Amino acid sequence: MNRLRTSYPRLCLAAMPFWLALWPVVSHAQGDLPGPEIAAKGTPSGAAACASCHGAKGEGNAAANFPRLAGLPATYIAAQLQNFAEGTRQNPVMAPQAKALSARERNAVAAYYASLPAAGGMPLNKPDATTKDVGQWLATRGRWDQDLPACVQCHGPAGAGVGTAFPPIAGQSAGYIASQLHAFKDGTRPGGPLNLMGVVAKRMSDADMAAVADYFAAAKPVAQSEAATSSAREKK
Ligand code: HEC
Ligand code: HEC
Repeated sequence: MNRLRTSYPRLCLAAMPFWLALWPVVSHAQGDLPGPEIAAKGTPSGAAACASCHGAKGEGNAAANFPRLAGLPATYIAAQLQNFAEGTRQNPVMAPQAKALSARERNAVAAYYASLPAAGGMPLNKPDATTKDVGQWLATRGRWDQDLPACVQCHGPAGAGVGTAFPPIAGQSAGYIASQLHAFKDGTRPGGPLNLMGVVAKRMSDADMAAVADYFAAAKPVAQSEAATSSAREKK
């Protein structure tokens, strides 16, 4: 029990060299079709325009549970596209899109979406939250008797994401977040480095997933580097 508690940060750090080692491989090749063109028009090989589902600015479509792509780390996007193409992350809509792209095109479109700004904002925290506020409690404190760390320990304050391995989750739709938690638990989506998300999701009930999904969906996305200044920017 205690061992797991102290080893999470170390595990996260331990994974970094692998991601850094992958970076030259992922970033080296330049796309034949530029990222913005793939996003806006799709490819002759059969990928549909990403923007038709993920929005003109990569903002996603909350009603349809199409995730936001703007501001996600490039290596994360490229890895997800590879997972869809290889079928380890199972989704009937995204699989044909990802399969139609070459590795270079995946990297190009990933770099493009990573470069788009995420809107500013912060989640609302109730200062007097109790364990009954399941969403906020799990997000910010976790549940240690189950060895369930707080989501923000890996996904950063406000769920804005950390580095390239821990994607932002704030501002994705509740339906999308919950569906991904179920997918991690059911094994239809790989759990990421060291299966970190697989371990987390297996400890959550359906009600936990729904509550924490609502909590992060109510938070507006915030760029990692701008967490401190975004609320000021948003007011303009
Ligand atoms: C027909 C609609 C549609 C089109 C077109 C489409 N997507 Fe998707 N995309 C989805 C859906 C639905 C999901 C959620 C899949 C899931 O639940 O795992 C998704 C998920 C993703 C994800 C995972 C995001 C995350 O946070 O893990 C990436 C990356 C992605 N799409 C990139 C692209 C790119 C790049 C293109 C263009 C080449 C594209 N998509 C075209 C519907 C679409
Ligand atoms: C020990 C670290 C860790 C903790 C704690 C953690 N996550 Fe994650 N999470 C990850 C990693 C790593 C990924 C990326 C997985 C991948 O590469 O596919 C991820 C991915 C996700 C995704 C997919 C995002 C997307 O764009 O598709 C969601 C949703 C998510 N986490 C929600 C949560 C929630 C909710 C909690 C708290 C209950 C949580 N996570 C706690 C490490 C963690």
